Amino acid sequence: MVTSEAAPFVKTGGLGDVLGSLPAALVKRGDDVAVVLPRYRIAEIPHSERVWYSMPLNLGAHRFSIAVDQVVLHGVRYLFVDCPPLYDRAGVYNEHGVDYGDNHIRFGILNQAALGIARNIFRPDVFHAHDWPAGLLPCYLRAGYAGDPTFFGAKCVLTIHNLGYQGNFPAWTLGDLGLDASLYHPEGLEFYGRLSFLKAGVVWSDAITTVSPTYAQEIQTPEFGFGFDGLLRSRAYKLSGILNGVDYEQWDPSNDPYIPAHYSASDFSNKRTCKVALLEALGLPKDAERPLIGVVSRFVYQKGFDLFGEIAGQVASEDVAMAILGSGERAIEDMFLHFARVHPDQFGVRIVYNNAFAHLIEAGSDMFLMPSRYEPSGLSQMYSLRYGTVPIVRATGGLEDSVHDDSGFKFSGYDPQAMLAVIREALAAYRDRTGWEQRMRHGMAKDFSWDVSAAKYQELYRA
Ligand code: ADP
Ligand code: GLC
Repeated sequence: MVTSEAAPFVKTGGLGDVLGSLPAALVKRGDDVAVVLPRYRIAEIPHSERVWYSMPLNLGAHRFSIAVDQVVLHGVRYLFVDCPPLYDRAGVYNEHGVDYGDNHIRFGILNQAALGIARNIFRPDVFHAHDWPAGLLPCYLRAGYAGDPTFFGAKCVLTIHNLGYQGNFPAWTLGDLGLDASLYHPEGLEFYGRLSFLKAGVVWSDAITTVSPTYAQEIQTPEFGFGFDGLLRSRAYKLSGILNGVDYEQWDPSNDPYIPAHYSASDFSNKRTCKVALLEALGLPKDAERPLIGVVSRFVYQKGFDLFGEIAGQVASEDVAMAILGSGERAIEDMFLHFARVHPDQFGVRIVYNNAFAHLIEAGSDMFLMPSRYEPSGLSQMYSLRYGTVPIVRATGGLEDSVHDDSGFKFSGYDPQAMLAVIREALAAYRDRTGWEQRMRHGMAKDFSWDVSAAKYQELYRA
């Protein structure tokens, strides 16, 4: 597998979660898995072993020498590409919201490194590329090494975790990436006048997956396709959706080290203790009876909080509090900070990335809000279900596939009034204690463990 993130080493969102747990689930089912990713300065790598000291790589006119460091975790070989000129920086993709100007080279080298590793360190039957940062790999393999016996029979799978991020660069980067000009056309690398890493993956991989069955359908429509819908419709024969799983070793209220009291479906009285701790941490009144809605999210266009902004005042007129954790676009951060100033007894807001606090919100809230404009899979709503925190979601992508009426609330149209109506419906339902606890139990009993999804990936690899 080739990726730009993998928990617990480096994670900015759900992609990191997936690469932290799917590989181990595959190993448990008998496969051999190596994961190749950059050794960023900010990656938290406890003890690694240097397994390759110097591998020269060419990328167009650029020459790099990389080393490879290995960490074995749950039977998975995580292979970190060490290349300080490219990865020894403060951010993963950007700093202060500005993408690194040489991201095409940073991730171009990642793909070349993966092929070098495949040649020298770990010989795979299947290359599995995740999202645009790994999108060039199938192209390098098919176009660059087509005649190389090392890779005879090797197949490529591309998983799209988020079509909103495509890795599109100016056409002149072709030379930087060592790609032949003959590949730059609409049936190849070119996407509306730019060179697209993700398109390379779509065109040259043998199979494409995305992270839920509903999203696999949605991305073939103009509304969700980000310009790729036609391309994906033409590749529908090799496109499928496999819902993400949850790592219940990390996300389990009965033994979560980040929460003050533990509970399970058979006895969730301690959830109240978590709620009080959460209210206290946010400086909200410690009223455990009042319903509390949690939010943990990257604050980006995708997540639909502009919709929430339109009805926040009406939500505040209800007897409800909100626990909000997230960071990202300034306008969304400012919006939540504004509501926290205007309704200090109702809106507790933290603008930061903090894993421990994400766990506390999942445990301490009664409901969890995800009004996403689109959501390829979404993991937070699955965590919520296991924590007895009833999800309120927009019926799209993985939210549609994982949240059901027995344990959550959904609205369809991308419309603030539809959202307000379903929030009110949830608040009304909360007052019926017996019905609510029944709903919590149904959610906690759902099983989204990786094993089921890993079996589907294995089936695809074998096919
Ligand atoms: P996405 O990958 O689009 O961000 P997911 O729901 O798949 O959405 O995954 C989000 C992951 O990132 C979850 O594990 C969630 O807990 C975590 N996360 C998002 N924002 C924060 C934050 N501010 N602090 C801690 N964890 C966060
Ligand atoms: C993306 C998507 C999210 C998905 C995650 C992991 O970041 O936005 O819905 O869960 O990837 O696949």
